[in-house]
This record gives sequence, C-alpha cells and structure tokens, in this order.
Amino acid sequence: MDRRNFLKIGMSAVAVAGMPFSMDAQAEEPSAKQPVFSIDGNRIRLQQLGLKKPVRLLVLADSHLSIDDERGEPYKDYSKRMAQYFKQSIQNLEKNTTAAQKQKYDMILMLGDMVSFPTAKGVETLLEAIKPLETPYAYIAGNHDWHYEGEEGTEIELRKKWCGKTLASLFQDRNPLCYNMMINGLNIVMMDTSVNEVLPEQLDFWREQVKAGLPTLLCCHIPLWVPGRGLAWGVGHPDWNAAHDKNWQVECRPRWSESGHTDVTKAFCKEVFAAPNLLGIVAGHVHKQCYNRYEGKFQVTSAATGLGGQLDLSLS
Ligand SMILES: [Fe+2]
Repeated sequence: MDRRNFLKIGMSAVAVAGMPFSMDAQAEEPSAKQPVFSIDGNRIRLQQLGLKKPVRLLVLADSHLSIDDERGEPYKDYSKRMAQYFKQSIQNLEKNTTAAQKQKYDMILMLGDMVSFPTAKGVETLLEAIKPLETPYAYIAGNHDWHYEGEEGTEIELRKKWCGKTLASLFQDRNPLCYNMMINGLNIVMMDTSVNEVLPEQLDFWREQVKAGLPTLLCCHIPLWVPGRGLAWGVGHPDWNAAHDKNWQVECRPRWSESGHTDVTKAFCKEVFAAPNLLGIVAGHVHKQCYNRYEGKFQVTSAATGLGGQLDLSLS
C-alpha cells in the first residue's frame, strides 16, 4: 500500500470546524494534530484530541458480584445459576479498587454486569468498594444487572423495574437509559445497550449529542458490532435474531426477535459510526480486552472486573 492510501485508510484525521478529533478520509498529509492511540496492557491513551484538559477514566465492567442476603431470598430460584460463577469477584474488585487508590482518576465508569442479578447486597458492596477512591462515578446497566433468570416480563420491562429498584442508587437520579456528563471538555455519553437494542428515545438522545458537536465518548455494556466480531457484539450484528439465539433457554429469557434488530437500532449503529464528533466507544460484556478500529472510530472493551480486569483510559 502506498503512503497516500495508507494515510487515507489509516489514522488520518483533519480538523472539521477546527476540531482535531474528527476523522476524515480526505486527509492526505500527516498533521501534528492527528489523534495518537497507544495501548500498554490495560493502559490506553488517546492523545491529540484537542481537549481542554486531559481526562483519566477508570473503567470497570462485569464485576459480576453475586453476594446476597435475606432481601434476595424470594428470588433464590432465579439467581441460583448465576450465583455459582465468579466466586472471586469481590476479592478481584477490591484488588482493583485498592490499586486504583494510588492513581488519580477524574471518573469511574461502571459499564454493566456489575452484579450477576439485581441483588441489593451486591449493589451496596460495589458502592462500598469504590467509596475509598473518592471519585465521581457513572453507571450504565448490563444484561445481568436487572435479570433474575425466569422472572416473568420482557427484557425492557425487567430492566425498567430493577433500574428503578435495587439498581436505582447507582444512577444517582440520572435517566437509566441514557445520559451524558462533561469532564474537561469531553462529553461522556452513557447509553444502555443491555437488551441488544436501543429505544427511540435513546436514538433521539444520541442525535442530540451529535448535533452538539462536542468531542464525545460513547460508553455502553454490549458493544456495537463491527465486521469480524461474533454475536457477543450484539448491537447491530446482522445475525442477531431468533434463529441464532443459542442461549435463551439456558438464561431463561425471551428469545431474540424473529426479525432481528429494529430499524431504530439499525439507524443508531449507522449514525454512531458516522458521527464526526465521536472519539470512540468503550464497552464491557465480552469479558476480554479487545480493540477495533471501524469507520475511523475506535471501540475498546474491558476484561471482566470479576476476573481482575479494568481499563485505565486517558484522553487528552
Ligand atoms: Fe453482559
């Protein structure tokens, strides 16, 4: 590949409306302001974005706490399968948060499946574990956080129910479906993707974020599909449908839709990757640290915090 084509396809970026974070395939010469991406283990840096001040984020996902008490008794039949897993999750979470106390983070992002079912004791344990960091946090739900396996209701109904009950304190009065926060000029958008779909109000919210034009980081639980990734990257996966849903009986949940994603979800995926102000996406769910670059945007997933994983993400 010649140099010119490499620059077109690779890390090329030009300023759009003076913002160096915008990727554009038309750039033909390197610029001092192109974004620089680097990974050292779980330390990820995205530099030369033009932020007012650097932002450092601790990303926790999939801690899968299953600690429970008498408040979970009525739901024991629904929680017993998931309660067998991640036996070291509390110790691994505490190791993580203890190590993090030596660092200075601007925010903790908790990207779902922080508990293996909506256990009140689990949520309290999580909040206790992050308390010594004295750092603001943001949370978005994962598919296990609100799921008692076998409980009657659609996924959307169960999410709404538990996000308003045991998970409510994690949201700090924010909208559980989507909200945003500004830190040092960075717009952090928290978007619930825990049912592999988004709702019309979430798409509308995303469109507002694009319209605002601020450098934006999208954070969610289930990552958006990119070519080459499997069904765990379920938001927008072309094979996400009933025929390909292998786990619905094991997980005691409704089967995925016969017809696959809604038009709203399809539009969301398309518009996310097309957004000129999107810096990248951070997600959980796959329990593995992965990196993709697609349509000029990076998407990174964190290893499971319940197994010792986390991301240390810096943007500047
Ligand atoms: Fe998950």
